[in-house]
Amino acid sequence: MKVIVTGGAGFIGSHTVVELINNGYTPIIVDDFRNSKPFIINQIFKITGQKPKHYAIDCCNYKDFETVFKIEKPEGIIHFAAYKAVGESVNKPLKYYENNINSLVNVLKLMNEFDVNNLVFSSSCTVYGSAKVIPVTEKTPTQKAESPYGNTKQIGEDILHDYFKTSKNKNISILRYFNPIGAHPSGLIGELPIGTPNNLIPFITQTADGIRKSLTIFGNDYPTRDGSCIRDYIHVVDLAIAHIKAFEKQKNQTSELETYNVGTGKGTSVIEVVECFEKETKIKLNYSFGEKREGDVAEIYADNSKIISELEWEPKYSLQDALKDAWNWQKNLKNVK
Ligand code: UFG
Repeated sequence: MKVIVTGGAGFIGSHTVVELINNGYTPIIVDDFRNSKPFIINQIFKITGQKPKHYAIDCCNYKDFETVFKIEKPEGIIHFAAYKAVGESVNKPLKYYENNINSLVNVLKLMNEFDVNNLVFSSSCTVYGSAKVIPVTEKTPTQKAESPYGNTKQIGEDILHDYFKTSKNKNISILRYFNPIGAHPSGLIGELPIGTPNNLIPFITQTADGIRKSLTIFGNDYPTRDGSCIRDYIHVVDLAIAHIKAFEKQKNQTSELETYNVGTGKGTSVIEVVECFEKETKIKLNYSFGEKREGDVAEIYADNSKIISELEWEPKYSLQDALKDAWNWQKNLKNVK
């Protein structure tokens, strides 16, 4: 099965491309490298022995994107390509709405034009906001988004529901990612944050590597077991495999739209992450407590029973594995860049 992967050179995209190849799919990467690096394609070759075909085009450019569909005649598409920095989206909302919404609309128009019936869409647990009952199931009501970024995911899901009602023979899987972390166990691909990392794990690994002086833990008086925020950290390879499982299910369907939480089902606090990293790597992290970060919810983790039963997916990697892999990648970065 030939699958277009938008954002296929990015963090989650590149790991998914590897798993697609490992499972006999032919991924076609569409990525203009605005938030990723060309050498990642070569790294994918080192891991899999196959160099995926690649188009450096902007998914918002309909004509360019159409050419890819014309040439490739894909059977499926995974749409990762999107801006994802929560803080930046607050300051530049139109950048987020323009890119994240237009690219999705183009994907759907092209699916109609070329009779492509299978789509996996990257959504986020951000749609749950500050949920009253934890863990969250797919039926937990969504809440008004805290940021324009989060809103693009909610609007994206709404667009998919409206599109599905009017379309025939389309299979759509909406995957709500919790906190993707780690790197490929080979140490050949991983996260490439541009500038100062916003997310916890790259900030930790850069601090351990001496690139940052110290980590600030945002808040220590949340109503949680140790006062720091609780999240559901999922190894990026497990997350990548969820996309394959979604396609496997779609192959037996003629028309369905399903939403799945992709998380481990376990909540871990920021302090627990830091302690686990120190234990696994034997490195003492320089950190202190600071103010709460605006928009952070105290606690969220997934009820993942739906994806486990319907897609026969299960997380295989532990938090320890993920932190070890993230650290291994950080150390290797000097050699691969
Ligand atoms: N944190 C720190 N210090 C840092 C960075 C993060 O203490 O330097 C804390 C945050 O306050 C939070 C936890 O670490 O409690 C995780 O923060 P991340 O930024 O790594 O992840 P978030 O949970 O904020 O964000 C993730 C995704 C977003 C998504 C959001 C939904 O990255 O795309 O979940 O909740 F929108």
